[in-house]
Amino acid sequence: MSNAVHPDVERVLITEPRIHRRIASLAREIGDCYGDDEVTIITVLNGSMVFLGELLHRLPMPTRLDTVVARSYGAGTTSSGRVRISRQWKLSLRGRHVLLVDDILDTGLTMKRICDHIRRERPASLRTCVLLDKPMRRVADIQPDFVGFEIPDKFVVGYGLDFAERYRNLPCIAVLKPEIYRA
Ligand code: XMP
Repeated sequence: MSNAVHPDVERVLITEPRIHRRIASLAREIGDCYGDDEVTIITVLNGSMVFLGELLHRLPMPTRLDTVVARSYGAGTTSSGRVRISRQWKLSLRGRHVLLVDDILDTGLTMKRICDHIRRERPASLRTCVLLDKPMRRVADIQPDFVGFEIPDKFVVGYGLDFAERYRNLPCIAVLKPEIYRA
């Protein structure tokens, strides 16, 4: 299975059909939560692009969309602990229902930092949605409102997630061979 996906992949953690099924049910959960309220989605680039694309067209409520760019990992597999927001959203968030969408919640430092920035704009509400949650690695005090999958403490790639900007186009969530991370 793994080599059929990519020769650098050691193990597929979550297959594409499972991801798609879960995103469909996640969209229903989010829709049930907001009803007919308009939601302003802020999505964290680049990692959440693929997830957001699949989620967005399944959301039943009216939406506005904007993006934020944040980095703490560089080309490695561990957070530097310093989160830099290099491009912020343009839409006004004051009095809006905001849903922050990211690919993965790991230490939580990235999402906590972005949430703090969003709260300064006084939204009507702020909720968070991640495709993947690694609760074992949490440092920041943050719990996501909507989670696709809980995963073990492994650095994963695919479905938008990268290692040194590669592997974002893998259709599944996978763990690479150890020699790839070491290289
Ligand atoms: P933190 O630790 O701040 O991490 O919660 C959030 C951001 O770090 C990246 N990240 C990963 N990227 N595989 C990846 O490809 C992983 O296992 C991983 N863990 C964290 C990701 O960009 C996320 O938004």
